[in-house]
Amino acid sequence: MVSSEGLTILKIGGSVITDKKADHGVVKINEIQRIAKEIVGFDGKLIIVHGAGSFGHPQAKRYALNEEFNVIGSVITHLSVKELCNIVVNVLNENGMCALGVHPMCCMLADNGRIKTMFLDQINCMLERGIVPVLHGDVVMDISVGTSVISGDQIVPYLAKHMKTNLLGIGSATEGVLDDKNSTIPVITSKNFDFVKKHIGGSENTDVTGGMLGKVKEMLDLSHNTSITSLIFDAGKPGNIERFLKGERIGTAIMHEQENCRF
Ligand SMILES: Nc1ncnc2c1ncn2[C@@H]1O[C@H](COP(=O)(O)OP(=O)(O)OP(=O)(O)O)[C@@H](O)[C@H]1O
Ligand SMILES: [Mg+2]
Repeated sequence: MVSSEGLTILKIGGSVITDKKADHGVVKINEIQRIAKEIVGFDGKLIIVHGAGSFGHPQAKRYALNEEFNVIGSVITHLSVKELCNIVVNVLNENGMCALGVHPMCCMLADNGRIKTMFLDQINCMLERGIVPVLHGDVVMDISVGTSVISGDQIVPYLAKHMKTNLLGIGSATEGVLDDKNSTIPVITSKNFDFVKKHIGGSENTDVTGGMLGKVKEMLDLSHNTSITSLIFDAGKPGNIERFLKGERIGTAIMHEQENCRF
C-alpha cells in the first residue's frame, strides 16, 4: 500500500472533454478550461484520470484492438490519447495548477485486458511534492494478448485499491446512473444491482470499454473488495466538480451494502 493519506481521485469522462460522436479526436477545449478553473482551488492530494473519448475509442474500434493484436493500431491509439492528455495537462498548468501526464503505457502491464502491475512510486512522489498526476485510458502492453485497451474506469479503482483513498468521483455526461424514467438512482450496492442493471447500458457513442455498465461494475467490485464508496456524477454541469471536491454528495453513490453512507 502506497501511503497517500487523504487522497482524492477524480475521473473526467471522455464524454465531457471530447466530442464523443466524432470518429477522430475532437477536443472540447472550453470544457477543459472550465474544469481546470473548478479544480484549481482544491487543496489536497489529487489524481486526475481522464477518459479517452474520441481520442481513443474510435481508433481502438477501427483497429479492432479488443479482438486481436495490432501494432500499428496500438501505436496510433496510444499517441492519440497521449495528445489529449497533453492538452489537459497544458490547460491545468495554464490555470495555475502543477500537473504532469503519467501515461499508463509507460508504467503499467496488463494480463488479458486486466491491470496486472503498475508502478505507483513516482505517482506518490508527485503527490508528496504537490504535483497532480494526470493519467488516462490507454493502450498498454499485455503479457497474454500483446496489447490491451485499459479504460480509465479500470485505472481509477486500481489506484483507489492500492493507495489510501478518501474521495472517489467519476464525472461523466449524465446526472448519475439513470433509471428507465431518466431519474438518478441514488445508491447502487450489490443488493439492488441485479434490479437496476436492466436500466444500465453501454454508451450511446463509440465506447470499447463498456460505457456506463462497465463503469458501474468496476466501482461495485471496488466497493465489495475495499468498502470504498464512489460517486458517478455529471461533470458536464458547471460547478459539479467543485461540489464533489468539497465532499458534497452528488449523483449516484456506488457502495458496499453494509457501509453507512457518510455523505
Ligand atoms: N442507465 C444509464 N445512466 C446513464 N448513462 C447511461 C446509462 N445507460 C447507458 N448510458 C450511457 O453511458 C454513457 C456514459 O458512458 P461513456 O463510457 O460513454 O462515458 P465516459 O466514461 O464519460 O467516456 P470515456 O469512456 O471516453 O471516458 C452515457 O452518456 C449514456 O449514453
Ligand atoms: Mg467509457
